[in-house]
Amino acid sequence: RDAPLVLGIETSCDETGIGIVRGRMLLSNTIASSMDEHARYGGVVPEVAARAHLEALQPSIDAAVAEAGVRLEDLDAIAVTSGPGLAGALMVGIGAAKALAVSLDKPLYAVNHLVGHIAADILTGEEVEYPTVALLVSGGHTSLLLVRDLVGDVELLGETMDDAAGEAFDKIARILGLPYPGGPEIDRAAAAGDPNAIRFPRGLSRASDMAEHRYDFSFSGLKTAVARWTEQAERDGADLPVADVAASFREAVVDVLVTKALDACARHDVPRLLLGGGVIANRRLREVALERAAAAGVAVRIPPLSLCTDNGAMIAALAAELIRSGRPASTLGFGADSTLPV
Ligand code: KG4
Ligand code: ZN
Repeated sequence: RDAPLVLGIETSCDETGIGIVRGRMLLSNTIASSMDEHARYGGVVPEVAARAHLEALQPSIDAAVAEAGVRLEDLDAIAVTSGPGLAGALMVGIGAAKALAVSLDKPLYAVNHLVGHIAADILTGEEVEYPTVALLVSGGHTSLLLVRDLVGDVELLGETMDDAAGEAFDKIARILGLPYPGGPEIDRAAAAGDPNAIRFPRGLSRASDMAEHRYDFSFSGLKTAVARWTEQAERDGADLPVADVAASFREAVVDVLVTKALDACARHDVPRLLLGGGVIANRRLREVALERAAAAGVAVRIPPLSLCTDNGAMIAALAAELIRSGRPASTLGFGADSTLPV
């Protein structure tokens, strides 16, 4: 039997992603982002994101189908993110997916967004091996997972207790007077700074935290520390050393992310680490992850950025794997689950 032709819909945050795959082959991956509309609020506004999805969905589906060179009638299945994510944003994608599935009389697969990020790796065309540890870092999530099997055996080891890593970048950028989204801005500013200029705290890394929160993350203490430091500099009447603060902040985030990810690899005896999410664009994060993983004998996989950020192709790819494993389609009763577990 031919590999299934699947169209995936992703609307869990601010990206309207439509992707089409044939089994493990990527045919198209269109992404429309409402990031610009959120910029003046300094963060993603759920209501604005939901409306933007509604407007972007139909043209995005048309574009993805045209780019893939397929017809909707030829699809074997539709896939959609049912959570976790912003409830209203998810609902728009789910509504569209149900309408498409019913009108075309195709099976519909509701899939988990985080597992979708892990599935992105199979579209790179390279041999994928499990088990692997996966570190997913974006504006919406910071999760560490142990993947023994993409279908049916994904375990959440830990996640952020407060801000997501990308959110932390966005908030610190604001403190430093840099525009939104802050991640790329801090990355740029940090290039000219000294990462060891200021020792900012590494959240949940103390011995006393480790029993309960070994694989969890916390960035709120770091955010407060940076805010205090900049306020003090202001009171002292000194020029704010933006590059040094950015570099030192970035170093603290990267250090804690990579340390915990590699600790998970060591403790579970897994020599593989998969990175995903928009924060993977961070240059220092890639550098430190590759360096320290090599020293620890861990192979790092970083899919291309278009597959790391939120996208529909990863959702379609996961559904294709579910179909391959014989998983039945979802019944139409499902809804958005903003806290859907893996
Ligand atoms: O996955 P993504 O595109 O979208 C969602 O979170 O939905 O991730 C966007 C996040 C933003 O918080 C942005 O500031 C952050 O990823 N980001 C970065 C970098 N590029 C984007 N953070 C750190 N360094 C970067 N180079
Ligand atoms: Zn995501």
